[in-house]
Amino acid sequence: MARMRVAVLISGRGSNMAALVRAAQAPDYPAEIVLVLSDKPDAAGLAFASDAGIEALPIDRKGFAGKADFEAAITAALTARQIELVCLAGFMRLLSADFVERWRDRLINIHPSLLPSFRGLDTHERALAAGVRIHGCTVHFVRAATDDGPIIIQAAVPVLDGDTAETLQHRVLAAEHDIYPRALALVAGGHARVEGERVVLPDMAMSEGRPLISPAA
Ligand code: GRF
Repeated sequence: MARMRVAVLISGRGSNMAALVRAAQAPDYPAEIVLVLSDKPDAAGLAFASDAGIEALPIDRKGFAGKADFEAAITAALTARQIELVCLAGFMRLLSADFVERWRDRLINIHPSLLPSFRGLDTHERALAAGVRIHGCTVHFVRAATDDGPIIIQAAVPVLDGDTAETLQHRVLAAEHDIYPRALALVAGGHARVEGERVVLPDMAMSEGRPLISPAA
């Protein structure tokens, strides 16, 4: 089966993009990372991508008068490379409803919380302030509203006594690197379908799983 042609949009470090690139190096992975695009020309992730032999393309938001022109340049870059699916991975620009609609069900994002809790920024600080014992991360199809859309996969992460936003972020980021490649494989492999704004996985074997209890003792 032909591998799905994927672009990853980043703004900075790009550790989730790197996790996707590494996963896609497996010969049986259903997606190929064809392009890494950044709105910030100095994003560290661009160097990682070109070192991995992937086209790394900066499209500087500052070079455009408005959002529509900027997004048109992104769309042109994606269509020129016959991209079929777009992964947002720490891409810090809000995309317009037009762009999101154009890529409906072909645009996914990773967010560092168990959605629909803690949409937006500073999720780890807010999880600590709320006193939740379980936090986590989510990969979802993108809709026009921020951090909204059908959920593909989530990982739950315990909040430990003494956690700071930094230690919690570190634990959640490790889970992000685990679930984003799984989510992309589900979508690119044709296993995850959107039905009525929920994701169904009709041909996936579901384990019963165990509850994550936090604190465990
Ligand atoms: C991640 O925590 C991701 O969930 C959020 O932004 C961060 C990006 O980190 N959207 P990286 O650039 O992938 O290292």
